Amino acid sequence: MKKRRKFIFVCSGSDCKSNGARNFAGKIKQILNEGEFRGKFKMVKTKCMDCCKSGPVAVVNNQLIKKADLDQLISELKED
Ligand code: FES
Repeated sequence: MKKRRKFIFVCSGSDCKSNGARNFAGKIKQILNEGEFRGKFKMVKTKCMDCCKSGPVAVVNNQLIKKADLDQLISELKED
């Protein structure tokens, strides 16, 4: 059976946007189109996740990624 793609939720609320959420989402997209992650994840933009002070934020594997921490995001992706 074909393995399903996992979701990555990225906040695109106004506070996160003003803290660079567009840039963060662009970098995530770039990472997801590279080698080992290609086709395994789907990025979904959401409204405010109510963690505005930690923005830009994303959720991977039920883990909140704060302050656009790409290193933490990549380690969560690799845990799969
Ligand atoms: S705007 Fe992103 S958590 Fe509120």
